[in-house]
Amino acid sequence: MSIKTAVVNGVATIEIARPEKKNALTRVMYQEMADALIAANTDKTVRAVLIQGQPTVFTSGNDIEDFMSSPPRDEDAPVFQFMRALLGCEKPVIAAVNGAAIGIGTTMLLHCDFVYVADDSRLAMPFVGLGLVPEFGSSLIVPSLMGHAKAAEKLLLGDPFTGADAVECGIANGVLAAGEVVAYARRVAERFNALAPSAVRESKRLMRRHSAAQVIETIKVEAEIFGARLRSPEAMEAFQAFFQKRQPDFTKFD
Ligand code: COA
Repeated sequence: MSIKTAVVNGVATIEIARPEKKNALTRVMYQEMADALIAANTDKTVRAVLIQGQPTVFTSGNDIEDFMSSPPRDEDAPVFQFMRALLGCEKPVIAAVNGAAIGIGTTMLLHCDFVYVADDSRLAMPFVGLGLVPEFGSSLIVPSLMGHAKAAEKLLLGDPFTGADAVECGIANGVLAAGEVVAYARRVAERFNALAPSAVRESKRLMRRHSAAQVIETIKVEAEIFGARLRSPEAMEAFQAFFQKRQPDFTKFD
């Protein structure tokens, strides 16, 4: 099992556990995470959700082999189910990030309520470098969080950034020593055991209400372009380069 789930003391934990592939996310893993989020949302004993990776890696993003062999075909694809469940989760979602959070590993943080990162975390949204485009609302949310200039470094150049940068630009709440991230995030999650659950749910909904329709519309537009780009010669070159452990050569494209 590459996704481990548990409910302990009011907190539903979703742990990404595929360290041999740097926690790259496959269709099966997205489906398991979607199911776990939906279950947490309806389980009355759950007050908050905690998403965590492994001590050295949160996730290296979508499994690139999956991107090549079975790209998401429509909005029923497991990745859409996972992101829909995340956006639709009425309870607070807390992310504990150790090590790398790449691609959808960073994108999903934009839809969590609390994000704690390690002092050795590296985040990145290298979509353009893979011949792709931003996804799941990031083309809207990232510029609105930090302004176009900083967003362009992250989305057009795909520059990696540190946990401290993530806090400064509004993606994360705090940076902690690597060994303390999960315990701290869990303590924040457990604070919801003492709070009025429906007041929390209504407040979360109100906080997201004004942007919800725009985010959903953006996700639709991004998904169409992303889906086409997954089959593009530029993306094929990037995926092959990744597995051949070389830099992609985009000079032949116009
Ligand atoms: N999809 C599929 N396999 C992946 C993967 C991914 N997203 N990320 C890592 N792996 C695999 C590697 O191919 C390698 O497999 P192998 O041992 O069979 O050769 C293994 O995981 C270890 O990865 P490696 O690159 O050797 O580790 P590293 O410590 O040098 O680098 C990362 C770690 C996360 C920086 C690097 O793996 C990486 O950049 N991954 C891809 C990130 C990415 O572009 N994600 C997609 C975003 S849309």
